[in-house]
Amino acid sequence: MLVAFEGIDGAGKSTVFNRIKEETSNTNLENQLVFTREPGGTRISEDIRRLIISPDYEKMDPKTETLLYAAARRQNLIEKIIPALDANKVVLADRFIDSSLVYQGIGRNIGIQVVAKINQFVLGNVMPDRVIYFDISPQEAMNRLKKKKQAADRFEKENIQFFEKLSLGYRNLINKNPANYVVIDAQKTPQKVYESVKKVLIPLIKEASK
Ligand code: TMP
Repeated sequence: MLVAFEGIDGAGKSTVFNRIKEETSNTNLENQLVFTREPGGTRISEDIRRLIISPDYEKMDPKTETLLYAAARRQNLIEKIIPALDANKVVLADRFIDSSLVYQGIGRNIGIQVVAKINQFVLGNVMPDRVIYFDISPQEAMNRLKKKKQAADRFEKENIQFFEKLSLGYRNLINKNPANYVVIDAQKTPQKVYESVKKVLIPLIKEASK
């Protein structure tokens, strides 16, 4: 089973993701779960990540960007995700195809259809079984990003209109295929968000191990 975590920057998705990763390490769930992130997850994909999100490359063309995300995804799929799925594990991915559909397809105006086609080429028939969507208002997400101590990456430097576009993009994906999504209210406190995600994950993990 493949479960993707999705949302706009600042939604708190990676915080919850990393907490689950930490809390399940050294427990009996450790052997059943595989954690990955995109772009990233393998050495090659993490190197591609550095290139894509670096604030040094403001001139990156949107098509170049789309292809680099796709390349990173392909390597993650082949090296990490497929072997884990073949071994009947539950793969938790901090971002997956929806991020490309929304950020490149809509945010960068490449078009959802083109990005979907490129990703079909990359993924074959592997698609997330469930997407956990961290729902937050673009304004609140931006406020949170402003409070962050590390330097902003290329996307985090975008303006509120860009985040609003992304938020609408995610909404459209959810409306098209609601059964695939679980929407979490990410405006709540980190503890509450974490608990809501756990509530969703526990039955999924049980279902996968049947
Ligand atoms: P992260 O901050 O969630 O790790 O993701 C890095 C940035 O990359 C984030 O701003 C979202 C962006 N991104 C895309 O634009 N397209 C993609 O396909 C993925 C996976 C991430």
